[in-house]
Amino acid sequence: MKRKIILDCDPGHDDAIAIMLAAQHLDVLGISTVGGNCSLENVTINALKILELIGRPDIPVYPGHSRPTVGELVTAPQFHGKSGLDGPDLPAPKIKPREKHGVDFITDTLRSAAAGGITLAATGPLTNIAAALNRAPDIAGRIREICVMGGSVTFGNWTPQAEFNIFVDPEAAYRVFNSGVPVKMCGLNLTRQCVITEAELNLIRKIPTRTARAAADMLGFYVEAERKNLGIPGGDLHDPCAVAWLIDPSLITGAAMHITVELKGEFTRGMTVCDYRHLHAGDPERDLCHNPAISFRGKEPNAEAGLRLNRDGFMKLLLDTLARYP
Ligand code: BDR
Ligand code: CA
Repeated sequence: MKRKIILDCDPGHDDAIAIMLAAQHLDVLGISTVGGNCSLENVTINALKILELIGRPDIPVYPGHSRPTVGELVTAPQFHGKSGLDGPDLPAPKIKPREKHGVDFITDTLRSAAAGGITLAATGPLTNIAAALNRAPDIAGRIREICVMGGSVTFGNWTPQAEFNIFVDPEAAYRVFNSGVPVKMCGLNLTRQCVITEAELNLIRKIPTRTARAAADMLGFYVEAERKNLGIPGGDLHDPCAVAWLIDPSLITGAAMHITVELKGEFTRGMTVCDYRHLHAGDPERDLCHNPAISFRGKEPNAEAGLRLNRDGFMKLLLDTLARYP
């Protein structure tokens, strides 16, 4: 039986690849969209385009919030282009978004399912999920877990300390991390282990399907954008890592720790404050185990942070998945 998930996202190139992974290997009950990489309108159209491309128009798309909990939306056109998904030439989608608001979809779906039966995967700002928890606090006990692409155990990307998704809506992230729901944090420290290379891109280019062709065009744009903006020779596949963790938990090794979100820091707003003082030597990328001789020194863990990726296993999953679509 495939794991049931709701995917909350802001496609976005890496979100688009995450949708492809999720739709093949998980039971995606629906996609809620959120303003993030681009406007809500654009990210919703992009989600619909991807579903049509992969032949899954049956997965419903529910637009959620267009703006973060506080302040104005920050977008990332330098990485995702004007449309939020520049690169491939995808036709305007024939399928339409649903009328229901994304937050209502999340709330209603959780309330109507068995407790613990549904996982939330979030690859954009956490605005919708926090709004659902605020509006209907009873759903917290019904969520199996929330797997978040966001934050970092080490350094940020949007600011020295903050990762983009958390930076866009720190209040929402704070609500989610402090909700009591088990959180898996797939942060930048993990996703930086997943920079797709030109050689891997060529392997995708060789897959003779329309989905693989579009994925290669998408990733080609994204790799070039990362090269221009970050100077790295490849593109970080952030969001697909979070979905891969749900598909095959053995791909990512994590450690339990307490994580909260800085809301007030002059230089650190949006930072995920990760307490890993109980790991062996305090190096989150090397020391994966809790040394039982060292006790938790802060609050009890509320999250599992992804620390190490089986990169070969991930790439195999990605290539196999793209080959399975039309
Ligand atoms: C995150 O920010 C977005 O630009 C990506 O889609 C990803 O979710 C990485 O910081
Ligand atoms: Ca995203």
